[in-house]
Amino acid sequence: MYAKITGTGSYLPDHLMDNFELSEMVDTSDEWIQSRTGIKARHIAEQDTVVSMAVSAAKEAIRNAGIEPAGIDLVIVSSVSAEQILPCAACEVQAAIGADNAAAFDLNAACTGFISAYQVAAAQMKAGLIRTALVIGSECLSNLIDWTDRGTCILFGDGAGAAVITCQDSNIEVPFVLHSDGAKGAALSCSSGFGAEKSPYGNHIFMDGRAIYKFAVKQIPQLIHEILEQSGRSVEEIDLFLLHQANERIITSIAKHLQQDISKFPMNLQENGNISSASIPVLLDDLNRQGKLKPGMKLIVAGFGAGLTWGGMYLEW
Ligand code: COA
Repeated sequence: MYAKITGTGSYLPDHLMDNFELSEMVDTSDEWIQSRTGIKARHIAEQDTVVSMAVSAAKEAIRNAGIEPAGIDLVIVSSVSAEQILPCAACEVQAAIGADNAAAFDLNAACTGFISAYQVAAAQMKAGLIRTALVIGSECLSNLIDWTDRGTCILFGDGAGAAVITCQDSNIEVPFVLHSDGAKGAALSCSSGFGAEKSPYGNHIFMDGRAIYKFAVKQIPQLIHEILEQSGRSVEEIDLFLLHQANERIITSIAKHLQQDISKFPMNLQENGNISSASIPVLLDDLNRQGKLKPGMKLIVAGFGAGLTWGGMYLEW
């Protein structure tokens, strides 16, 4: 059994906020932001919500896969920033796209969320429970940002990405790896709007930037070696490494550590900023639409973020 991505879609809000616009709001500069992160701009939702963006991305992925919504067995939405708790975003998406036969639920594993959701769907396929899943990462992080905190507001953006995953009868072995370290959770944290007084965390995203940076550049190369070992592949055999789009310096450092050319690490964070669980499916959709993903290509996809969580998988396109 192999859980193959057979369609992708994405949605980004119209308002592209560049570093110059941000530097009118907080004491920062385009030069500082680009040199520390690689980010030039990010999309910021005005009317869009986690659900509306998820629906737009989902419809595109379904069109791209050439399937009928009624053929979808499972809808998972990964998000940390939904405007509502009940009903869950996945049920709203299920209704809006007419996936009448699908089960639906949300999942929160922050920036590792798309990876976790993909692995849950693939595991259900392996167990023989489902054949087709729609996995979506949708984030409206502008809901959670303190727009006076220059340490965080420069990093994040809004958007959604979706993938249709279809069960293929194949003997390709696909190793999945997920990790967490909850003891370090305070390094990237935010309380919800409800019962916030009982939470040790503040009302907006707090981040210990240096701790998160160190965590990512240490754990992701190790994670990739773990995936390579389990898939029986060498690092040279991998055509592309699709990593969570948090920071260009983090990705460059990982490429150096693996001694692989940076051209094997496509990026779109320059225009999107960090869109948490949406970053990987949006990147997949960008590459798919540009025709850069060829049949048989070997990919390693990996994410990391709050929790702390990190995980990844080996995929063949
Ligand atoms: N513009 C200008 N100056 C800024 C700034 C901004 N937006 N943000 C912070 N600074 C200042 C700080 O106040 C500090 O000034 P000081 O030395 O006078 O105190 C100085 O720049 C250095 O701050 P520091 O936080 O140490 O910077 P850094 O080099 O660690 O870069 C990050 C900050 C956030 C870019 C970096 O830590 C990072 O990328 N971390 C990973 C974040 C991430 O990817 N998170 C999501 C993971 S899912």
